[in-house]
Amino acid sequence: MDKKFKRTLVTTALPYANGPVHIGHLAGVYVPADIYTRYLRLRGEDVIMIGGSDEHGVPITIKAQKEGVTPQDIVDRYHNIIKNSMEGLGISFDVYSRTTSDMHHKTASDFFRKLYDKGEFIEKTSVQLYDEKADQYLADRYVTGTCPKCGNERAYGDQCEACGTSLNATDLINPVSAITGNTPVLKETKHWYMPLDKWEPKLREWILEQHKEWKPNVYGQCKSWLDDHLQPRAVTRDLNWGIPVPVEGADGKVLYVWFDAPIGYISNTKELLPDTWETYWKDPETRIIHFIGKDNIVFHCLIFPAMLMAEGSYQLPENVPANEFLNLEGDKISTSRNWAVWLHEYLEDFPGKQDVLRYVLTANAPESKDNDFTWRDFQARNNNELVAILGNFVNRALVLTHKYFGGVIPEAHELLDIDREALAEFKNVKDTLGANIENFKFREALKDAMNLARIGNKYLADTEPWKLAKTDMARVETIMNLAVQICANLAIAFEPFLPFSAEKLRGMLGMGEVDWNKLGDTDILPAGHAVEKPVLLFEKIEDAAIEAQMQRLERIKQENIVANFKPKAVAPQVTIDDFAKLDIRVGTVLECSKVKKSDKLLQFNIEDGMGGRTIVSGIAKWYEPEELIGKQVCFIANFPPRKLKGVESQGMILSAEDADGRLIVIGPTGPVKPGASVG
Ligand code: 2FM
Ligand code: ZN
Repeated sequence: MDKKFKRTLVTTALPYANGPVHIGHLAGVYVPADIYTRYLRLRGEDVIMIGGSDEHGVPITIKAQKEGVTPQDIVDRYHNIIKNSMEGLGISFDVYSRTTSDMHHKTASDFFRKLYDKGEFIEKTSVQLYDEKADQYLADRYVTGTCPKCGNERAYGDQCEACGTSLNATDLINPVSAITGNTPVLKETKHWYMPLDKWEPKLREWILEQHKEWKPNVYGQCKSWLDDHLQPRAVTRDLNWGIPVPVEGADGKVLYVWFDAPIGYISNTKELLPDTWETYWKDPETRIIHFIGKDNIVFHCLIFPAMLMAEGSYQLPENVPANEFLNLEGDKISTSRNWAVWLHEYLEDFPGKQDVLRYVLTANAPESKDNDFTWRDFQARNNNELVAILGNFVNRALVLTHKYFGGVIPEAHELLDIDREALAEFKNVKDTLGANIENFKFREALKDAMNLARIGNKYLADTEPWKLAKTDMARVETIMNLAVQICANLAIAFEPFLPFSAEKLRGMLGMGEVDWNKLGDTDILPAGHAVEKPVLLFEKIEDAAIEAQMQRLERIKQENIVANFKPKAVAPQVTIDDFAKLDIRVGTVLECSKVKKSDKLLQFNIEDGMGGRTIVSGIAKWYEPEELIGKQVCFIANFPPRKLKGVESQGMILSAEDADGRLIVIGPTGPVKPGASVG
């Protein structure tokens, strides 16, 4: 590891305490940060990992208002759920605190005051959106409207989630108050701004010149912000939930949540190490690493560093290995739509399987692009990799050691080529695995660790000790000695990734402390040392467990469709005679094909009980022609014929939109005689 640094400070994005944590948070931030930290600890390095809940900000107050409780009630509820569930997954924080703590309020308040006293803020009066009915300014998530950049009608006052653009509330077109649904008015208010433009040259030099090694997704996002040029940013808000602005004449104003939250890393370090915290923040020999998701890049790479530069006594982060997003079954994870796998629920549904989730989230980590979590992949990785490769090897090695040697590790004798080849394969693992972790390539690092188990399986399959047991016991001794040494290597290599299983394995092997430096060695456990009878490290996950999870998601999808669907207003009343004028029939699709030179139209040949007819319908975007052949559909039989792309259409097939705006053809729910009237 880089000798420049004596110690490492790992920070993990503070999750908002307005909901539990889900697999997206875990894959993006907490699992990689935990792997990194555990790895450094295993190497005997001085490292601390800082976490905590982000308990300010508008989403929390909105949730409290909706539930008729206080914001404090909300954050107390979720802080505890988050803290306990992270502990349950083995995320090994040295401290997990919260931004409502006294320590944090004081630290953030003092930080603001120092910048204020140094003249680092601009004071500016501007017009902001104001909800007259609620008697409140509408910042951030208190206001929704149309994104000026992409036209998304559900953009928030701080960001459009559709195109990722960061917004000011006043940028929104047709703004609407999230509190009352009213159209806000403009009203003057005073705020304090960080002049980011002033820090732009320094930030450019620091990132674009001195940190070319940062991950391309992080470097690229910073470059694009810097190339667009930075503007002053308000760091205070008109709200009654947060840290009061410590300045005369700032009644009713609090620090912007994104001003106080990163200072939470400092407050929580102070809480952990009241006497020595400054060494971790101010000594150039400390390496500071911020683990975050991609939506936090601007705050951690530009705004927080500008705050630290303005303060003057802090070190800047050495790296910010932000991840992209994890999707769930092809859709963006969303707390408000309940489209997530929640950690606390996972731990209840899959007791004892913390490492399976850690494994799958690492193997699938969105390190360089968005990735997808699917329950089928989760099952396959458990059954085909953890059970079939890692668990299987350890089990075979220990079962055979018990079978032939009563669980006592035999002596290794002279090595043959086949032994040397296996050894040569895993000799470099320490370096490659370590380098991959140090470079934040956790997927690759996990593959390196898994490769050790593959080597072990292949070694047993190639040497077949069960056959030699009849003829050459000395050979079996060598083979089993080596196989057990590979198990010991696995206990070390997997400790950062799968701490629960690594601990179990250490127990079976009777290993005490593990030492990273021994990785790759073949004399970790001495001959004569006894190992325990093996217990299974991993169990097969059956289809039923996966199907239950998929059914849950299907239920949520249906609930969201119902919740989000707003039927259009009912048309003016008509009489039965008006209805009778429309002749609606059922027909069977005999043939269906694309209309030439059109990507919208399908041509149907319909059995209508009256000699058949052709109908052209604009649903080619949503159906492959073959899908509809043989189906029964409803159609209007008495529209005058009309030509579409040269084909005469003798009616109209009925359809309705689904939740995604896709047209679904309407037909009877059971077989009906072609030509039957609908009425
Ligand atoms: O995006 C989020 O969930 C924020 N609560 C992250 C804050 S990170 C840090 F600045 F505290
Ligand atoms: Zn947008």
